[in-house]
Amino acid sequence: MPIVDMKGMLEHAYQNSYAVGAFDVVSLDFVTGIMTAAERSRSPVILSLAEPHFAYFDFELLMSAVERAAQRATVPVAIHLDHGASTESAVQSIRLGCNGVMVDASHHPFEENVRLTLGVTQMARGCGIPVEGELGYVPGVEGEDAERHPGELVYTSVSEAKAYVQRTGVDFLAVSIGTVHGRIKGNPRLNYSRLEEINEALGIPLVLHGGTGLADEQYSRLISNGISKINYYTALADTSGARIQQNIQSGRQGYTALVGGVAESIAEEAECCMHLWGSAGLADEVLKNCSSWAPVEHLIIYNADASEKEVHAMMSEGKQVLSQIPGVRAVFTGDAVQQGAQYRFSWLVRFCHSAVIDSYRDHPDHIAFADNLFRPIAGDRISIDYRAVEGSRSLSERKSAVRKSA
Ligand code: 13P
Repeated sequence: MPIVDMKGMLEHAYQNSYAVGAFDVVSLDFVTGIMTAAERSRSPVILSLAEPHFAYFDFELLMSAVERAAQRATVPVAIHLDHGASTESAVQSIRLGCNGVMVDASHHPFEENVRLTLGVTQMARGCGIPVEGELGYVPGVEGEDAERHPGELVYTSVSEAKAYVQRTGVDFLAVSIGTVHGRIKGNPRLNYSRLEEINEALGIPLVLHGGTGLADEQYSRLISNGISKINYYTALADTSGARIQQNIQSGRQGYTALVGGVAESIAEEAECCMHLWGSAGLADEVLKNCSSWAPVEHLIIYNADASEKEVHAMMSEGKQVLSQIPGVRAVFTGDAVQQGAQYRFSWLVRFCHSAVIDSYRDHPDHIAFADNLFRPIAGDRISIDYRAVEGSRSLSERKSAVRKSA
């Protein structure tokens, strides 16, 4: 269960004036550290994967660990694509398990930003996935996450924000109100009155990028003006680096010795944030108030009026085509193990969300495959969609499973 609908999670934060940390992960130590912090402080959390960081890890491999960590958690977790570069990136991230996406077109002129973001929201709607858009520009100044965000700060305009949300239908808006990515140089010029006006005009959860390095009272003023998700990375990277430096200074050698304690340093930093931003202690309330994120299995069993060779060729084509449709996570196709089974062949298509039942059925690639290759030979078939059912493990059983595998 603990993967929850990110829209419900952030609406709860928005209604109750706290912010959920969206921590960018770049390694297993980050996943472990952030989840340890969330479990220790009983906080909802967002595990974020930023496309500009994909040069540092294998996205597909790390996503397996991220999804597993979220599934076995006892606190509510959402998995988010941060700063995606295109609709294709968003489709791929949904296939790999993200249940919230941001495609960042904030460096483009307004009309182009609207056009690109609209493409993402139209695709994501059909997958049941909420979308974060960004308007205005949050640059980098110096330090770990800065160089990927070149250029000057552009504050978000209230009238453009209204038009942007209306035209794109984004669920959350990342605003630029004076923060920067990376280490902050000097005192940031935060424009609280602009934020207040944007919040009044929109009434949707707002997102802060460049979360590292603000003072406690700055965070609380931002949160009381609608910031419900805080993106945070550089401080986690810096505390990890400091820990490695300490290990070197104490004469340690070898990989495991040098990275020893990194996950715990990350946990301490993230836990501080969770307390500071007001999400600590709210895990159970969020679990009660949010829908769990349940995949759907689209099952077809059938007999075919064709040779086995023809059926296998059709299966192979279908697997190729259907697995590319947005919201499809995996396609299994098989022959019955038992000779004489009532139905000889199967498809098992895993959708990320029940919304995909309709968008998949109506997708032109599905229609073309089904009408031209599948239905003509598979007249005798049964097709049913199944939603995953929650296991009956109690919270204390799940907590003890997390402790054992930690
Ligand atoms: P910092 O690196 O400044 O914490 O910002 C992270 C961020 O905004 C990622 O989207």
